[in-house]
Amino acid sequence: MPDLATGERVVVTRDAAETRDLASRLAATARPGDLLCLVGDLGAGKTQFAKGFAVGLGIDDVVSSPTFVLMTEYAGRLPMFHLDLYRIADAADALAGGLLDERQSEGVALVEWAERLGEALPAARLDVFIDGVGDDERRITLRAAAPDYLRYLEAAA
Ligand SMILES: Nc1ncnc2c1ncn2[C@@H]1O[C@H](COP(=O)(O)OP(=O)(O)O)[C@@H](O)[C@H]1O
Ligand SMILES: [Mg+2]
Repeated sequence: MPDLATGERVVVTRDAAETRDLASRLAATARPGDLLCLVGDLGAGKTQFAKGFAVGLGIDDVVSSPTFVLMTEYAGRLPMFHLDLYRIADAADALAGGLLDERQSEGVALVEWAERLGEALPAARLDVFIDGVGDDERRITLRAAAPDYLRYLEAAA
């Protein structure tokens, strides 16, 4: 059940396909300018989540890890901007350099390792915490950091 009072909802997925399905359902509620922060260890499933989200946006391209290019843009119902900050030396510099700018207001941005932006992270966002690695199930906590993002908690049903 969504706890709309705390703005959190937990979903457990048993395999990568379930994580992709969850993300795909969430994509139906995406609006221009949305920001989703994907937080979890290496191998947690952040990229799997991004793949599923792309499917939900009607994106045909194969979504892979953008680790070496920082950001990949895909065309779907809305543009999807997939970012990976794993190798960012100074996240604040990257932001100042225009990593997140007006261009993304036309689409939805999914950011792996978003916690690296620290205080620089925009307040309006959906946090997606993925706990677990390997073949174990994943505990995925959706946290609406602003009321506008509560629609994602409902979409997770
Ligand atoms: N429930 C699950 N959700 C997501 N991925 C899972 C799950 N169970 C196993 N996996 C596997 O874990 C790996 C996650 O990889 P990836 O999405 O690239 O992680 P990250 O981007 O967080 O480093 C994949 O090999 C995937 O098949
Ligand atoms: Mg990844």
